Parts: sequence; structure tokens; C-alpha cells
Amino acid sequence: MSPKSGKEGGGTSQGGKAWGGRFSQATDPTVERFSASIHFDKILASHDIRGSKAQARMLGRTGLISDAEAQELVAGLDQIAAEIADGSFPFDPALEDIHMNIETRLRTHLGPVAGKLHTGRSRNDQVATDLALFLRDIGLSTQRGLLELRGVLLERAKENVDTVLPGYTHLQRAQPVRLAHHWLAHIEVLGRDADRFRDARARVTRCPLGAGAMAGSTLPLLREETAAELGFEAPTRNSMDTVASRDLALEYMAAAAISMVHLSRLAEELVIWSSSEFGFVELADAYSTGSSLMPQKKNPDVPEIVRGKSGRVIGNLVTLLTVLKGLPLTYNRDLQEDKEPLFDTVDTLRDCLEVMAGAVATLDVKRERMAAAASDPMLLATDLAEFLVRKGVPFRDAHEVVGSIVGHVTRNRLNLRSLTKADMQSFHEAFDSGADELLDLERSLESRTLMGGTARVRVEAAIAEIESELAAERTELEALQAAAEATGGASPVPAS
Ligand code: ARG
Repeated sequence: MSPKSGKEGGGTSQGGKAWGGRFSQATDPTVERFSASIHFDKILASHDIRGSKAQARMLGRTGLISDAEAQELVAGLDQIAAEIADGSFPFDPALEDIHMNIETRLRTHLGPVAGKLHTGRSRNDQVATDLALFLRDIGLSTQRGLLELRGVLLERAKENVDTVLPGYTHLQRAQPVRLAHHWLAHIEVLGRDADRFRDARARVTRCPLGAGAMAGSTLPLLREETAAELGFEAPTRNSMDTVASRDLALEYMAAAAISMVHLSRLAEELVIWSSSEFGFVELADAYSTGSSLMPQKKNPDVPEIVRGKSGRVIGNLVTLLTVLKGLPLTYNRDLQEDKEPLFDTVDTLRDCLEVMAGAVATLDVKRERMAAAASDPMLLATDLAEFLVRKGVPFRDAHEVVGSIVGHVTRNRLNLRSLTKADMQSFHEAFDSGADELLDLERSLESRTLMGGTARVRVEAAIAEIESELAAERTELEALQAAAEATGGASPVPAS
């Protein structure tokens, strides 16, 4: 379609018309479609309205607009918030983005006074403000999701202190561990993930509003006041950095990518463990699916999809890193490409945390299968070597001796336990009994009492410690949530 000609009007975007008095042609419809972001940035509506209300009140206090006008703007913005909430808001792609959609609607409701809202403001500091508010809200909900999943893993760990299975290295049976110990390992890493989100959120402390297009404003705006009203510690210090940077979003996305990689590892174990070859667990029917062709199949689709979705979250991080790389100061329209990857990451991680919590909570643990695998005496070969070490044999020599024993039983297809005291002594005179007596699973587990080990006392102590850590974190999150709500934030981000 060829460009439509001519535009009239008051310098505000109207559907199909290009920007402001300087333009004499309407935007080409292809360009309109190409550059519109409303279909994804409408998720920022509540944040945009919060920012605009703070802006309107601040303008009223400066005298740039009257108190009555400020109140009118706030009331109009509240009306729009209600329309968005009840679904009656007419989102218009011709109005490009959420900022222009809301401002244009405000004009419909209030008339020309709506044009005063944007005083001293640019969409550049506006969108940065919306994003900062958004990042604070989702930072909290992601931390909550990680807390839930760790809570579920902790419950399962408590039930499975006495469930023993082989621990693996190279996916080869290595040494026996308690299942609780195994799941506590996942809790540790997911706890560090939560720390990363907390840390990233703690850096979202400064308010972009008032940075203008990139150099601030000649108008007497009250940046400290809008910052405080929106729950920030202070205004940002450099207007150019403010409109040009997206590292706070990057941090969230990096933390999310790391977390998804961790979820994919937990997911992978559920996939492997639910195979007939392992048979260690069975996913609940509600968390698995059948095959459309093979009636006998019960497929671990949920953990498989989680594993697969780690790809897009890593990709989203790489997308934004690439958008930012080499971008000159300050605002460039490229920055609009920050949103879809960020929003997709938020949605994906939220869903993955939720389904993984459900899958783990409802998992049927096949204790006997795990015990049978753990009863393989070869898993205790290290213990035999450490027995010799305690008798004064250098570890390298002990390792060699036990290696020969393992070679011997493997070549002759013997059970390690069948070796008598004499057999054992033929490998090393320090052995003082038969293999069966030397190899005791429970003793092996229980002698691993070092900090971080799989002995019952250690596992139970770790459970107790984690339990109180999670409780403290829950309290902390509730306090943060209350603080966020006090400034109109932490609204649950709707699934997009
Ligand atoms: N939709 C835009 C974005 O996400 C809003 C800012 C537009 N600013 C501009 N100068 N065109 O970045």
C-alpha cells in the first residue's frame, strides 16, 4: 500500500497517522504493523498506569498543571485501569504501543487536558520506568516459584531419608546415597538461583522517570518524589544511561537461563528414572501422557517439555545480549526488541517451576528398585580401599589393590560378596575378614558423616537447616510483597 497523504491535528498520534506536526504523510500500513508493539507490551499496562499516575500527581505539585488537572488525569487513568481489568479497553495496533494506547484513550475520556500528562516525559524514560516496575514485580513472583519448588523437594526429601539409591558419575553407578541427599542437591542449586533473582531485583532501585528522551528536562520536575511514590530509593543518576540500558532485564534473563538449565537437569533425571531401564520413579498420570499409537506407553512429556523449554530461555538471553551489543548511546528503537524475549522468559520459567513442583510432588518413588540398584556391592569398592587406608596402606596402593579385586570378580563373573577372608588376603594381608562382612551398605552410608555427606545425621541436619531457611525466605517474600503492594506493585503478571 502506498503512503496515505496528509495529516491534521494536534501533534498526538492518531490511528494511521504519523507522529506530530512535522509529518505530512501517514505511516505506511506495513510500517505500522512492523513497528507496533502493542500486542506484546500491553502486559505493561498496569505498570504504565502506575507510572503515569505518579507523573500526573508530580506535575500537579510543580504547578506545571493545576491540582484539578492532576486529579482529572489520575481519575482518567483509574478509569482506564478498570477498562483494562474488565477487558473493555480497545487496544489499537495503529496506536503502536501501550503508552500511546493509554494516552489516546485518556484523550477520549478527558479531552485536551490529556495532552498535559506527557509534560517533560518521553516514551524513552516511560518505557524504562515500566520495565523497572515490571522487573520488581516479576522478581518477586519468580522467587516465590523457586521457593515453592524447593518446598516440594524438601517434603519429598523428608519422606525419603531411608530410601537408598546409587549416586552416579558419568551416568555409571558410583556410590550409594540417600534419595533425600540427592534431592537436597537440587534444593541447593535452586536456592542459589533464588539468590540470583533476589540479587538482580535488589539492583532495581532507581527510577528512570524524568530522564526524558535522553538529556533530562528543562522543566522543574520532581524526580525524587515520583521515585519515592513508585517505591524506588532514588531517581537514576544519568539520563543517558537510563534510557539506553537494559542490563537489569538481562540480569533477570541470565538468572532465568541458569535456572532453566538447572530445571532441565532435574527434568532429565525424571525422564531417565521413569524409563523401564531405571524404573526408579513413576510420574503421576496427571503429569504424563500416553502415546497416540502405542497403548503401553506412559511418556514423561512434562519433564521433557521443561528440558526442551530451557532452549528458548537461553535463546531469549542471547537475543537481548545481541540486541544490545554495539548499540550506541542512547535510546535506539532496537530496544523495543527487549520485550518479547523478556516476557517469554517470565512466562516460561513461571510455568516450568509450577509443573515441576507438581510433577515432583506427585511422583511415585519405587523404593525397592532403587534399593536393588543400590545393593550392587561394587558401589562399595571405594569403602574397601578406605578400609586399607585406615590400616596404613597408601591410598594409591589401596586403589590399585581394590582395582585388581574388581577386575578379578568381573572377569570370573563372581559376586564381590562371595570372596572369603582368604580370598581377600590374597589381594592384601591387611584385610581381616571376608568381603561380605567388609561391605555393609548401611555402615557405608552412616560413615559418611563429614559436612555435606549422606549419613543420616548430616541429611537430617541439612533438612532442618533448609526448612528454617525456606521459612525465613517465605517471611521475607511476604514482607517484600506487602512493601510492593504499598506502592501499587506486585500485581500478579497475567499469563500472556
Ligand atoms: N515501544 C517503544 C519501546 O519499547 C517505546 C519507546 C518508543 N520510543 C521512541 N522514541 N520511539 O522501546
